[in-house]
Amino acid sequence: MSKIIDGKAVSQSVKDRIKEKAARLKEKYNVTAGLAVIIVGDDPASRIYVNNKKKACEYVGFDSYEYALPEETTENELLELINKLNNDERIDGILCQLPLPKHIDENVIINNISPNKDVDAFHPVNVGKIMIGDYNFLPCTPAGVMELIASTGIDIKGKECVVVGRSNIVGKPMSMLLLHKSGTVTICHSKTKDLKAECKRADILVAAVGVPNLIKGDMIKEGAVVIDVGMNRLDSGKLCGDVEFESASNIAGYITPVPGGVGPMTIAMLMQNTLTAAMINRNIVKE
Ligand code: GUN
Repeated sequence: MSKIIDGKAVSQSVKDRIKEKAARLKEKYNVTAGLAVIIVGDDPASRIYVNNKKKACEYVGFDSYEYALPEETTENELLELINKLNNDERIDGILCQLPLPKHIDENVIINNISPNKDVDAFHPVNVGKIMIGDYNFLPCTPAGVMELIASTGIDIKGKECVVVGRSNIVGKPMSMLLLHKSGTVTICHSKTKDLKAECKRADILVAAVGVPNLIKGDMIKEGAVVIDVGMNRLDSGKLCGDVEFESASNIAGYITPVPGGVGPMTIAMLMQNTLTAAMINRNIVKE
């Protein structure tokens, strides 16, 4: 039976670390980090995510500013708000919850967030910095996965790492972070010829495709670290990952559950990025 990686516990310890640093920032520099969260329309899942982000800010001691805009908001109106927030000294981080309504081009919005306030690390400048390995912000989900792998005590150096999924938000940056830690990285996707054979080689397997239960136990190497980024809602209403937990947890050495694995980490890493942004925007040198 695999060891379960407890995302809630790891996330709690990251948030506690940030809470301490936030208190020191306040004491030493009288600075309270501020995060602006924009939500357009009333997608129920987005509403839950935004509420959780605000709660996390409260927990660590950051100010959060919510901008809830109606579905009909135009691209120009949203750009005007972003421009205002880019120039607002109270705001260190700007997060525009995705997906946006279809009439708004997400890339245009992302490209207009100041790179120093881009706590999602979606702006091309920050994406490029990740590629080079000289970055301030890491995209929250891959950064959370790295924390979960670190929590197992397993060293990535020289390991076979297989990432299933090539999205800009998870798969591609995930692969870069594993590469920076000297893993031997393979990226699989929908056109990969033999997914089972690729996965079976992996010492560290990260599934981020959004296909419920795609990865079965017989595709996993004995003792592997298996990280499931999938968050799929079944017709029954139940949440399920990209990994078939029941069969996989007999083979893997370590495995993340869904829910309670990667999910809680994403918000913790957002808090980390907001703290980093506050230090950059307020010219505070790292201690
Ligand atoms: N929607 C789902 N996940 C995310 C995320 O990490 N950032 C933003 N901005 N929107 C999301």
